[in-house]
Amino acid sequence: MKKLLFSLLVLLAFNAVADDVTQGRAKAEAACALCHGATGLATLPNAPNLAGQQAIYVSEQLKNYRSGKRQNEVMNMIAKPLTDAEISQLAAWFGAIKVTAEAP
Ligand code: HEC
Repeated sequence: MKKLLFSLLVLLAFNAVADDVTQGRAKAEAACALCHGATGLATLPNAPNLAGQQAIYVSEQLKNYRSGKRQNEVMNMIAKPLTDAEISQLAAWFGAIKVTAEAP
């Protein structure tokens, strides 16, 4: 019984993460893709790639933009209305994108 309960909890936690990625993806497509690309590869020359970026880093930067600790006119405006939950979802999505790197 304990084992079953534990498996159920793991499954629920896993589903919660998968949910975050799906919801983050939808939000990113609507609000971030214009500059950071549909799969996190920047389409704007002065915007950074976010594909495969550590979720913890993305969420920290978004919170810094939101609070004004990190200054950038565009990103301060974009991050301002984001909730903690939305930031987690966006960070989960960009962190989940798989990237490969190849030396020239
Ligand atoms: C209009 C263009 C534009 C849009 C839309 C946009 N960004 Fe940005 N983003 C930028 C630019 C430009 C920078 C570089 C800012 C700087 O120098 O700090 C940036 C920086 C960032 C960074 C910091 C990356 C790093 O390497 O430190 C994160 C994280 C980020 N954006 C997330 C997002 C998310 C999430 C969204 C959607 C909710 C979004 N951005 C929408 C233009 C945009």
